[in-house]
Amino acid sequence: MKIIPLNKAKFGMFLAMDVRDTTGKIILKKGTEINETIIYKLKKAGIFNIPVKSANVMSELNKETKKHSVISKENLDLNYKKVKDLFKNLEDNNYLDIDAVIDIASSIKNDLENNFSDKLFVPLKKLRDFDEYLYSHSLNVMIISSLLAIENGIIGDELLNISISSLLHDIGKTKVPIEIMNAPRPLTEEEMNTMRNHVLYGKEIALENNLRDMNIIGGIYEHHERIDGRGYLEGKKNEQITSFGKIIAIADVYDALTSTRSYKGPWTPYKTISFILTNVEKQFDGTFAQGLINSFGIYPVGTRIQLNNGQFGTVVASNRANKIRPLIRIDHGDVVDLSEEYSLRIVKVLDYVYIE
Ligand SMILES: [Fe+2]
Repeated sequence: MKIIPLNKAKFGMFLAMDVRDTTGKIILKKGTEINETIIYKLKKAGIFNIPVKSANVMSELNKETKKHSVISKENLDLNYKKVKDLFKNLEDNNYLDIDAVIDIASSIKNDLENNFSDKLFVPLKKLRDFDEYLYSHSLNVMIISSLLAIENGIIGDELLNISISSLLHDIGKTKVPIEIMNAPRPLTEEEMNTMRNHVLYGKEIALENNLRDMNIIGGIYEHHERIDGRGYLEGKKNEQITSFGKIIAIADVYDALTSTRSYKGPWTPYKTISFILTNVEKQFDGTFAQGLINSFGIYPVGTRIQLNNGQFGTVVASNRANKIRPLIRIDHGDVVDLSEEYSLRIVKVLDYVYIE
């Protein structure tokens, strides 16, 4: 057993002792397997160090997902650093480095084009430190939007343009005061208006920096518009919203809901996909939402499941040709491709583990 800080806890570890809150009440029992939900629960209870035992589960899962990854871990980490520098430059010096924007967007676009396949793992950068959310979110929304574009036959310069637009979709937030950005409470009417104006600030920053492509601007300005006209800033309806605006809206919501924020824990990708599907044609465009399901599947990678034979496992890749039959790594066992093993099927969704 060892005592570790909560921010070092991960799936594959188990609680070595009961964990109690400040009143002495047991909140988690010895033997509980660590996952994001448990970590959030501990954090919320004000617990910062936990007693754990390790099992070498994550490295096995990483080995399997890596075979189907659309972006290498090295490229994801490298581009995360570049996105952070780009935004810091904008925040501190009011300078948008267009060469860096093109460099990052091209690098992600090339990786996606080269690695796109019928079995997919889409790695995203998820941080527990929500002060850096804007940077990881911008990178993730770029990855997801570019994938949705590829799923819908968008190629070449147009693909690069959506990568650029989605990378920059929230640049306007660098003009919103940090107290409003990270407020762990509902915003006042006035604060809400400032926050909503980030799409306008973003459009202004892009134009000031000579980004004049109307689709790029559309993606930045319209990513909070909704099909039914209930979005912002203008309340535009379906046919008035650009394709880029519709694509980025889906990518933005997917990443936001699956992330930890100051005011909420992360939703599982499974729950998030279900939410987006429920709101197709009300909030989100159906064709582009279908692209999300094609890439992520109904059970995205990391989803913990139970099979009809009673075994437990973790999804390690989606099957683009069969969204409900992904590749599963059976716990402490082999990988099975459910699109080839028709005697097996998923009967229960349990939880989720984040795979980097
Ligand atoms: Fe936004």
